[in-house]
Parts: sequence; structure tokens; C-alpha cells
Amino acid sequence: MTKILIDSADIKKAREIEKYYTIAGITTNPTILSKIEGSLEDKLKELKEFTYGKYEVHVQTTESEVEKIVEEAKKLRDYFGESFYIKIPVTKAGLEAIKLCSKENIRVTATAILTAMQALAAAKNGANYVAPYVNRMENVGQDAKEAILEISNLLIDYPTEILAASFKNVKQVQDILRCGAEAATIAPEIIEASIWHPYTDKSVFDFEKDWENRFGDKKIVDGI
Ligand code: G3P
Repeated sequence: MTKILIDSADIKKAREIEKYYTIAGITTNPTILSKIEGSLEDKLKELKEFTYGKYEVHVQTTESEVEKIVEEAKKLRDYFGESFYIKIPVTKAGLEAIKLCSKENIRVTATAILTAMQALAAAKNGANYVAPYVNRMENVGQDAKEAILEISNLLIDYPTEILAASFKNVKQVQDILRCGAEAATIAPEIIEASIWHPYTDKSVFDFEKDWENRFGDKKIVDGI
């Protein structure tokens, strides 16, 4: 079943979205967190309260040395609980840390992936998810759909799932979900755009107008 996660640290917005959209979790990265208002402590607490026992929570390491990444991952896992995933960029140090975290049973999302071979390396080291950056691929002329297909084929014998990230529009999301990604993490405004259509709104408007013209204030149950 396709999973949709929210790529944002705006918990107020996430709480609005979860009322009408079935989400699997939330993802952040250092750039997203650098834009928050208020303190980091309050934001992490809010993120924990929103996700604890209910949603996946993917938080990226701020370290770049192997031992420090693993240490940070352990602390964050202890803080956020079982549904926590440490996001680790696929560098040499990152790959080494992915291997170690995986041995420690800390769930890993290998991130900042731009090629199928990077995804394969992360999967081999035990990553639970690989996060290919769709829009960033397209920004430099790579065929993102082709890349997702390749990753999907290469990972066929691995339990690793594809959590596609970096989207600028709904079409990109639709396309990559068709190419074998099990999950996508999307900004709140793209989730909103994905369920909106002007003709749906017009249809609802016309239904209401036609009903009112014929029946006024009367509701359908008044006819029972
Ligand atoms: O969460 C990481 C990814 O979504 C980055 O997205 O839009 O900054 O390319 P973007």
C-alpha cells in the first residue's frame, strides 16, 4: 500500500492534514528545521507528541563523522521511540554509519540519493528506506522516473523501501508512485494540491444551487 508522509516541521499544518488525509508519518531535514519559529527543543517536543506511537518520524543527523552519527541516532531513537528513523545522507561516512545503525537495530532512511547505485549501496548496508530526490534529479537533467524504476529493480531482493522525496508538484509524485516507489514524502501544499480540482468545487457549487432552487432550506432527511 502506498504511503504518504508529510515533509515538514509545521505540526499545526500536519494536524490539519491528518484529519482528512491518511498519512504514514512525517519527515524533516536540517533545512526544514532551520526555518522553524521558536526553539529547537519545543519543535522536537511537538514532533514527538504528534508522532509518538502513531506515525513514523524521520529526522536527519546533523553529524558527519561515523561514530557521532551513530551516537546521535541512538539518542534520537531513545527520544522519539520505536517509530523513529535516522536519516543519513549517502556519503562514505554515511554508508558506514548506516551499516552500524542497522546492526544496532536503529531504523535508517538513507537520504540525499540521486542515483540507483547510491540506493543499492544503502540497501546493502541495511537501510530500511532509501530517499531519492526527485526534483533535484530533474533540476540537473536526470530522468527521475527512470531512476526510480532502476532503484525499484535493483532493490527487488532487498526489504528496503523507496521513500521518494523532493517534489515541486503533484505530477512528479504521481509519476514516481507509478514507477515503483512504496512511499513519498510531500510538502503540505502539494498534499493539498493533490486533492483539489476546480471542477470538483464547481460540481459541489452546482449541486447546492440546484437543490436550493428546488427545495430551499429543506434537507434530504426532511423528506423521510
Ligand atoms: O526531505 C528532503 C527532501 O524532501 C528535499 O526536498 O524540496 O529541498 O529538494 P527539496
